[in-house]
Amino acid sequence: MTHTIAEMPQDRSLTVAARKEGAESRASASGAVSCRQVKKEFGAGDNRALVLRGVDFDVQFGEMTLLVGPSGCGKTTLLSVIAGLLDATAGEISVLSQNMDTLSGTDSVLFRRKNLGFVFQQYNLLPALTAAENAAVPLLAAGVPRKRAVDRASALLTELGLEKRLHALPAQLSGGQQQRVALARALVHEPRLIVCDEPTSALDHETGYAVMELLTKVAVRDDRAVIVVTHDSRVFDFADRIAHMDDGRIVRTEAPRQERFAASRN
Ligand SMILES: Nc1ncnc2c1ncn2[C@@H]1O[C@H](COP(=O)(O)OP(=O)(O)OP(=O)(O)O)[C@@H](O)[C@H]1O
Ligand SMILES: [Mg+2]
Repeated sequence: MTHTIAEMPQDRSLTVAARKEGAESRASASGAVSCRQVKKEFGAGDNRALVLRGVDFDVQFGEMTLLVGPSGCGKTTLLSVIAGLLDATAGEISVLSQNMDTLSGTDSVLFRRKNLGFVFQQYNLLPALTAAENAAVPLLAAGVPRKRAVDRASALLTELGLEKRLHALPAQLSGGQQQRVALARALVHEPRLIVCDEPTSALDHETGYAVMELLTKVAVRDDRAVIVVTHDSRVFDFADRIAHMDDGRIVRTEAPRQERFAASRN
């Protein structure tokens, strides 16, 4: 079934209102991500650049948070620091109630492998593996038997409209198809935190909508959270919260759905 964007807010506001009730009943639970005065510097000497300039950023469980802002303002850097792929220069980061500073190298890798799913701007698919095998990688890494892992990955790829491309190699796929394989790989092990950098950039309207719906369905639950970096205003209706970033800082956060919900009750 296809939808238009215009149909969406009404449909989804019901789901979100129901989720919010669950979220409010756990008011004492800590957030999914908390960043306090996070700084990230690249380079040294004359090439030194302070790219994150004291980021305060919170992501709540049960929500989809969009991170938006101009090119070069530090969105990918912030996602990478939250995901533990880059070390922050200063500040505190807690992910799923785990202080990332206190995890040693191996523990940090195991923690990320189990709990996080990523879709980055470069898809980083393994060229010698088929679409289904690529999407199955997190399960294979966790020791799930090969057939079960590939079957699960194939089911997700089918939900993303790729049922005819399961056995194709990345080089045989379009950019949008590769993006969906990367998304399936991020979701396949049901991680509690999913971070996506521009997950709909290479997709047409309908496929982009299907991707956001799947992200919402799979990932936005009481004990999970999603962060999506996007320039795509078509996906704003999916947001529980929109954090605006500029020049290395979060400058404003809005909760459009709560605001619409409150307005509709007045
Ligand atoms: N490894 C690096 N070394 C030096 N500078 C870097 C590095 N990675 C990013 N930068 C710089 O940090 C700034 C922020 O980059 P980042 O990729 O986080 O921006 P962005 O907001 O994701 O932009 P876009 O919307 O174009 O993807 C840019 O000026 C970039 O050139
Ligand atoms: Mg980026």
